This record gives sequence, structure tokens and C-alpha cells, in this order.
Amino acid sequence: MFMNIEKSTNKEKNYQILLSNIDYYLIEGDNLITNLSNLSAYLNYFLDDVNWVGFYLYDGEKLALGPFQGNPACTIIHLGNGVCGTAARNLETLVVNDVDSFPSHIACDSSSKSELVIPIVKDDKLIGVLDIDSPLLSHFDNVDKQYLEKVIVKLIDIL
Ligand code: SME
Repeated sequence: MFMNIEKSTNKEKNYQILLSNIDYYLIEGDNLITNLSNLSAYLNYFLDDVNWVGFYLYDGEKLALGPFQGNPACTIIHLGNGVCGTAARNLETLVVNDVDSFPSHIACDSSSKSELVIPIVKDDKLIGVLDIDSPLLSHFDNVDKQYLEKVIVKLIDIL
């Protein structure tokens, strides 16, 4: 059952609280969709100024929409397309300060202005990506990148 964990107004402290309680919501042996569903809700609770947080899952050919919080989104993204497909193809985190300046950005929600995408890779195999959108320009910085990559390491550990 979700405990209403107290958030901090300090971003780094907030991420530390998020990480110190994450094991309650990532359960080894549970279904992938189950874990990602709770993780998207958990992140959505902690992250300020985001309008979409969720996952796209790699099916061996393309990315397909997975568990998320936010408005309905595009269902299929090919590798190399958009911020998600580019991060997945390059196996590298992408932080985009202004999505309108990213040539192949896929606009699922017109309120999204900046975006952060982290590939999920286990044993050299692409599992999918974590995608987070903000309605603010340049919302994501190195602190977000570092801590959210730690979240993904925690996720990979239980897969
Ligand atoms: N903007 C993403 C598409 C997914 S939505 O943001 C939920 C992209 O360019 O890949």
C-alpha cells in the first residue's frame, strides 16, 4: 500500500528520499508491467513540473507504449525516431532542453517543452526507455540525469 512519503523542496534531497524508499515499489519476481506501473506512479508523485512520465518497451523491432502517467501517448516509436527512439538506438541518456529544437521530436502532448529519456539495458539487451516530459523549457539538469539513472539501475537490478 502506498505510504504518503514526505517530499522535500530541495531537489537533491527529494531524489534521496525517492531512492531510499524505492525498494518498496520494485519487487523482484513481479511482472515487468507490474513493476513499471508502480514505478511510473511513484516517479510521478516525486517529480515536480512534469506532465508525462512512463515507459516504452522494446519488442525486438520497435518501442511500444508501456505503463505511464499522463495523457494518452503515441503507441509505437521506431528506433532512431524522436527523443525516445534516438536514446534507444544510441543506448545513451538524452536531455533535451527544448523539444522544438530536436529535429525528429514526436509531439504526443503539445504542453511538453523539455524531455529526458534514459535507455533501460540489461545484459547488453535493450529493454526499453524511461521517458519524462516537462511543460517547462530546460527543466532537466545533471542532478535529474544522475538520480534518474540511479533509479534505472535499481530497476535493472530486479529484472
Ligand atoms: N516525445 C517523445 C515521444 C513520446 S511522448 O513524449 C510521451 C519522443 O520524441 O520520442
